[in-house]
Amino acid sequence: MKKMIFALICGLMVVGAGCGSASAPTPAANTNQQPSPAVTPGSKTYSLSDVAAHSIASDCWMAISGKVYDVTSYIPNHPGGDKMVAGCGKDATSMFDRIKGGKGHSDYAKSLETDYYIGDLK
Ligand code: HEM
Repeated sequence: MKKMIFALICGLMVVGAGCGSASAPTPAANTNQQPSPAVTPGSKTYSLSDVAAHSIASDCWMAISGKVYDVTSYIPNHPGGDKMVAGCGKDATSMFDRIKGGKGHSDYAKSLETDYYIGDLK
């Protein structure tokens, strides 16, 4: 009878609560994996002549506000079309800020920059 009551209580217990078994709780998933930018800000620096070596649509770096971006893969998706190619190999800050009659790019456009960031301008 004692055995039956024990079995009944065990049956009602939530899985993993023990009940005399040696089963260890399932280890929690690794939550330490944080999405991190490919490059830590400040860890790489490039001069304007480094940037200038990538001045064509198929190999396009540009500096905007002290940061350097490799935007080669973004050019086909750029809403402003290949107009941005004018900024390849250059400090394109003023071009970036001048569009839309001086309004400049949207916050959304600025958020996209993160994906293409490769380092800071020396
Ligand atoms: C990291 C570099 C760049 C990114 C991520 C980017 C992104 C975008 C995005 C998302 C738009 C849509 C409008 C907005 O959201 O503001 C846009 C429009 C545009 N962009 Fe860029 N852009 C970049 C660089 C440039 C450069 C260097 C130029 C010029 C040389 C340029 C010229 C334009 C033009 C002319 C438009 C169309 C504006 C309009 O709607 O009238 N962009 N860009």
